[in-house]
Amino acid sequence: MPALVLLGAQWGDEGKGKATDLLGGSVDYVVRYQGGNNAGHTVVVGDQKYALHLLPSGILTPECTPVIGNGVVVDPSVLFSELNGLNERGVDTSKLLISGNAHIITPYNVTVDKVTERFLGKRKIGTTGRGIGPTYADKINRVGIRVQDLYDESILTQKVEAALDAKNQMLTKLYNRRAIAVDQVVTELLTHADRLKPYVADTTLVLNDALDEGKVVLFEGGQGTLLDIDHGTYPFVTSSNPTAGGACTGAGVGPTKISRVIGILKAYTTRVGAGPFPTELFDEDGEALRRIGGERGVTTGRDRRCGWFDAVIARYATRVNGLTDFFLTKLDVLTGWERIPVCVAYEIDGRRVEELPYSQSDFHHAKPVYETLPGWSEDITKAKSFSDLPKNAQAYVKALEEMSGAPISAIGVGPGRDETIQVNSFLD
Ligand code: GDP
Ligand code: IMO
Ligand code: MG
Repeated sequence: MPALVLLGAQWGDEGKGKATDLLGGSVDYVVRYQGGNNAGHTVVVGDQKYALHLLPSGILTPECTPVIGNGVVVDPSVLFSELNGLNERGVDTSKLLISGNAHIITPYNVTVDKVTERFLGKRKIGTTGRGIGPTYADKINRVGIRVQDLYDESILTQKVEAALDAKNQMLTKLYNRRAIAVDQVVTELLTHADRLKPYVADTTLVLNDALDEGKVVLFEGGQGTLLDIDHGTYPFVTSSNPTAGGACTGAGVGPTKISRVIGILKAYTTRVGAGPFPTELFDEDGEALRRIGGERGVTTGRDRRCGWFDAVIARYATRVNGLTDFFLTKLDVLTGWERIPVCVAYEIDGRRVEELPYSQSDFHHAKPVYETLPGWSEDITKAKSFSDLPKNAQAYVKALEEMSGAPISAIGVGPGRDETIQVNSFLD
């Protein structure tokens, strides 16, 4: 049986949480494979709204086993406060599994994230300040702390020493901050060990066994394709691989196991933080998209930058992820516009360009070439099938599908679980 990957096709916040939750009832495992609590996934179940940062959205489905894979970076205090919050609301979180190989976001990683951003000044990335980049940097520099290290105090102490050696030089000499004491960090990390223990597992083995037994596994991406460290708008990206390949390395499952890759695609575009965004709007339309779409960050509370749909980006997401399907979200937000511009190509230095340019400076100069599609004014939030949509909304979806290079298999017409039109099944 299949492994499915569900990921963001744009700059994050496409509605991955809702889409994962929707599939939760039909899958056995939901796995986060990268990122950490920089994510903010909103799930609305009935009249209840949940904001998840680190936990997989499958945690809200009792039959489903939620898994935090080796590719994720885990801040233990954030993990526990999220678990406490869910437990207080009656959600059973006891099935959660966490990879012993996942890296831990330590307090000094959070400090380094904040001071680095401050020192970048105007050139800052606009990170979420959660310590994500510095934790992945430690991982790649081979001075990271892993979940399993909490169970060997001597190894943990040696590793924290190694990690703090250079950092303390940097903090005191370059950034004029106080040095961080090794024993203080070790003591703090050890306070999490006992509570974390029951969740720690060899998740690679668990997931591969599950797939061999015919179970269905869903990999839930955080962030989005354009925030990918390799394929995104570098350096204005996150420090992991949200793209489809990240699911293999971040969970220890081979690419031959993956049968479906679903790109979550907003019917317009948003971005949080700095970096290029060709279709960004600075006018009343942008303000209206922000207001009607409720485009405010779940994690940092920052207003999201808003713009029209960009088909060049959607095509690129299809290419680098090998997308088999799109899940188009927030179509209802576009209700009421008489005409809706869609970016079909870019103009760069007088040339028409159909594909995302690999060169950063070209992308910075890209001007959107728009086609304008007729809008609709009817309320679509109650639509249950494609034919329930007004003709112009149908035509908008079909035009996006044509331009984006993969079938649109589901359409979101509201934030709730049941406010979805399923065009094709994801599980056949
Ligand atoms: P994620 O990070 O990709 O999970 O997305 P976020 O949760 O950060 O942002 C998506 C927002 O859109 C959330 O507030 C969702 O509740 C909401 N949402 C998701 N799908 C739809 C939809 O089809 N229509 C509307 N109106 N809201 C949606
Ligand atoms: P979800 O999963 C939108 C952005 C930050 C910043 C850049 C780097 O909810 O879609 P980081 O803290 O990761 O080092 O910040 O990435 N960013 C997101 N933008 N949605 C997210 O997650 C994001 N996670 C990180 O705003 O520009
Ligand atoms: Mg989000």
